[in-house]
Amino acid sequence: MFNSQLSTNHLLGIKYITQEDIEKIFATAEEFKDVINRPIKKVPSLRDVTIANVFFENSTRTRISFELAERRLSADVVNFASSSSSVNKGETLLDTIKNILAMKVDMVVMRHPAPGAHHFLSRHIDAHIINAGDGTHEHPTQALLDTFSIKEKMGTLQGKNIVIVGDIIHSRVALSNIFCLQMLGANVAVCGPRTLIPKHIEALGVTVIDDVRKALQWCDAANILRIQLERQNTKYIPSLREYTNHFGINKELLESINKEILILHPGPINRGIEITSDVADSNQAIILDQVENGVAIRMAVLYLLAGIRQ
Ligand code: CP
Repeated sequence: MFNSQLSTNHLLGIKYITQEDIEKIFATAEEFKDVINRPIKKVPSLRDVTIANVFFENSTRTRISFELAERRLSADVVNFASSSSSVNKGETLLDTIKNILAMKVDMVVMRHPAPGAHHFLSRHIDAHIINAGDGTHEHPTQALLDTFSIKEKMGTLQGKNIVIVGDIIHSRVALSNIFCLQMLGANVAVCGPRTLIPKHIEALGVTVIDDVRKALQWCDAANILRIQLERQNTKYIPSLREYTNHFGINKELLESINKEILILHPGPINRGIEITSDVADSNQAIILDQVENGVAIRMAVLYLLAGIRQ
């Protein structure tokens, strides 16, 4: 394993890194953002490093963003999708990853539906593990890119009010954002149907605002999440139409608060449900800036974890 330049050998979640780590990742990402905007977008930093992208759940943005980040750093990249793998023949997660590592892989970027799958692996294998989303638990690189994007627009997170709107209880993006934003000095609130908000979320220092107009009035930036129907076995809301009527973000609602706030969305967007197209495509929305920054943030994470070779 390489000597990480972060306080940890793995990125398992924002909860397990420090404020200093986040600041180091942001400073490095700023440098890589310059690199990826140059005509020649590649640097040799991770030449001879082999990275496996192992996805047990669907992904568009995160998978492509990691692969681009790895290729921009000149790493060798292998991609694994569970849908076409021997996992379907009954192989365990540990056996699958051990077989991949036997082919001399240095880092594993993994998305898995089980919270804690990455912790389990990090205790059993000798490679850097990066969490690309573990069930409803954490999605650390998403929180890093969201927070970096807000900081880029506002200059600082210190003292800023950020609200996360939507399906909080099923959202790994929400939990990682709460940890990351608070570590950088922001005040965090959540807003959504009470059935979609964890019962004791206030224990994390988060405020619950029930009225979406009040939440928007309070905040400097709003991160809008989709309803994750794929993780809901019971009915948490009467219907999507009812959700949209009470918590959907539309132009009329934003105009009624008489201030300009930033709008974020981690994607994938369900247009017309949690956000209307006129908001998602407006100048207030920084959704594509988030995607662009995602590549630089992931380059920074990979680069810093790879550190100096032992
Ligand atoms: N934001 C995010 O994780 O998107 P994907 O599921 O497409 O990777």
